[in-house]
Amino acid sequence: MGPGSMMMGDPRNAKNPNNTSGRGKKLDPKTRNRVLARLAKYLFRHMDIVLTAFFFMLSANLLALVGPKLSGEAINAIIGKGEVKFDVIYEKVFWLILCYVGSALLSLGLALTLIRLSKKITYSLRKDIFEHLLTLPVGYFDTHQTGDIISHISYDVDTVNTSLSHDLLQICASIVTVIGSVIMMLSISPMLLLVFCVTVPISLVLTKKRTTFVRPLFRKRSAKLGELNGYAEEMLSGQKTIRAYGRQAHICEKFDERNKDACDAYYEADYHGALIGPSTNFINNLSLSLIIMFGGIFFLLSITGAVAPTSLFFIEIGYLSSFVQYSRRFSGPINEFANILADLQSALSAAERIFRIIDEAPETPDVENAIESDDIRGEVKIDHVKFGYVPGRIIIKDLNLDVPQGSTVAIVGPTGAGKTTIINLLMRFYDVNEGTIDLDGHEIREYTRHSLRSAYTMVLQETWLFGGTIAENIAYGKEGATMDEIVAAARAAKIDSFIRTLPGGYDTVMTDNGVNISKGQKQLITIARAMLADSPMLILDEATSNVDSRTEIMIQEAMLRLMQGRTCFVIAHRLSTVQNADTILVVKDGNVIEQGNHEELMTLGGTYAGLYNSQFS
Ligand SMILES: Nc1ncnc2c1ncn2[C@@H]1O[C@H](COP(=O)(O)OP(=O)(O)OP(=O)(O)O)[C@@H](O)[C@H]1O
Ligand SMILES: [Mg+2]
Repeated sequence: MGPGSMMMGDPRNAKNPNNTSGRGKKLDPKTRNRVLARLAKYLFRHMDIVLTAFFFMLSANLLALVGPKLSGEAINAIIGKGEVKFDVIYEKVFWLILCYVGSALLSLGLALTLIRLSKKITYSLRKDIFEHLLTLPVGYFDTHQTGDIISHISYDVDTVNTSLSHDLLQICASIVTVIGSVIMMLSISPMLLLVFCVTVPISLVLTKKRTTFVRPLFRKRSAKLGELNGYAEEMLSGQKTIRAYGRQAHICEKFDERNKDACDAYYEADYHGALIGPSTNFINNLSLSLIIMFGGIFFLLSITGAVAPTSLFFIEIGYLSSFVQYSRRFSGPINEFANILADLQSALSAAERIFRIIDEAPETPDVENAIESDDIRGEVKIDHVKFGYVPGRIIIKDLNLDVPQGSTVAIVGPTGAGKTTIINLLMRFYDVNEGTIDLDGHEIREYTRHSLRSAYTMVLQETWLFGGTIAENIAYGKEGATMDEIVAAARAAKIDSFIRTLPGGYDTVMTDNGVNISKGQKQLITIARAMLADSPMLILDEATSNVDSRTEIMIQEAMLRLMQGRTCFVIAHRLSTVQNADTILVVKDGNVIEQGNHEELMTLGGTYAGLYNSQFS
């Protein structure tokens, strides 16, 4: 941003087409002030940089304001009264160059300072959001879309940052330029200023039209593009299903509708945007013509001596040129002001979304003097536990269970019965509504979350591999695991020979799409990860659901070894994996309907026996 050079009028709200939620929506004044106050805190953190930027902005703009006056004086010296005053011209031109060089250097300083400020603000905002996210309860991520959260970390931070480091100073610069130009024009010729003022209301009307009419069109334009993007994303990710059902023609039609909507919205916004540009130009040129015309008349009156040098109408030719330049300076910010204000508005909405995350209540802190223990044995007692994710919808109604140290509990039951929910409670991903869960004789809430969670090793229903090497993925649960240990774990999980067929072996980097790795292979890697981790308790939630029965039998021995001496919670749909459990819980609609070992439940001849017979008859 250079002094006097205002950014061009292309509305910037197309930069975040994916996130249209609340975009540009006006905040109520109270929220707005609160958001502004919090944003100011981020600026205050870097007060030195802000002040430097302000200094550069002020001095660059003030210096640039002197230029037209000097050039006018130089012209006066050329077309003076009879003789050309070379010494005056040289002097004025010298100062003129000095002013512009100074102003250019200061503008450079300003630009560099803004880049620094921008870096710092982006960094601290992202850091604050991400660090806060890690303190939130797991439930937050169950109820918020990852895509949305990511758009807050990337787009919203970007919007806020641009605004803080750019628009705010732009507004200050505009104010300096507008006021400065008016003062200079007034000092040169009050009468010409009156002439100039004739067109200002028209400019203001155009600006107003832009805010109230054209801006919303651009907002609609990005919303439509967002819809189109969302649709394309959804359809591209579902290609297999779409082709299998032969729905290509149907989705083409749907895409076509959205494409057309988006293009129409683009057309409408651009059409009206295009109308505004030339009209603004026309008004500016109209005011220029008026100034030249009246300025010419005043000048004529001045050189013929019809008006005295003390008269308000008196003007020299050089100053007429200065006046024209100042009037141009004045118009720039006025034409752009609407855009900047609208940018600020969307920045405030973005900031509000960011602060909403930062204000999200973190996990309740560990109780005072919480037990930090690294030798938990693993004796679990569940007593009259009642739990629902949302008020009014109870998932677990009355769960009672005694699990001696080292025994295995299998949980079976239909889909949606609440099996994973029980695991969520054991790990304190959610807290029970009523009842207690004891671990080694203490309520689990008496432990620090850290020590409670590190007492468990989990293999979950959804496998999660991160973008590191396979070796790093396996070693995730054990810091400083040696390569030998990693290979031994992989061997026990029967995935070693597959890993060796990969071009990079154990150093193969897992890209997030993981195309060359099947679901079952992923699961085996997470099982290897569990084999390495050394904790007193183990949770297997459908750990082998994607693995074929033969491989499952092959790793069974290693699994049994893994379970040896540990307290285990095993969830499996395949009953072959659960028959050896010490206790089998049959869960249905949040109630334990049967409980006992395999033989007992078979003799009982209830749900379990029915399930078993249907699988093995
Ligand atoms: N985060 C959540 N918020 C609200 N409700 C949830 C949440 N997670 C699960 N539920 C609901 O709780 C019930 C039990 O879910 P749960 O995941 O425990 O089932 P499950 O027995 O593990 O099923 P599956 O065999 O399919 O894994 C379901 O009706 C589900 O809709
Ligand atoms: Mg489940």
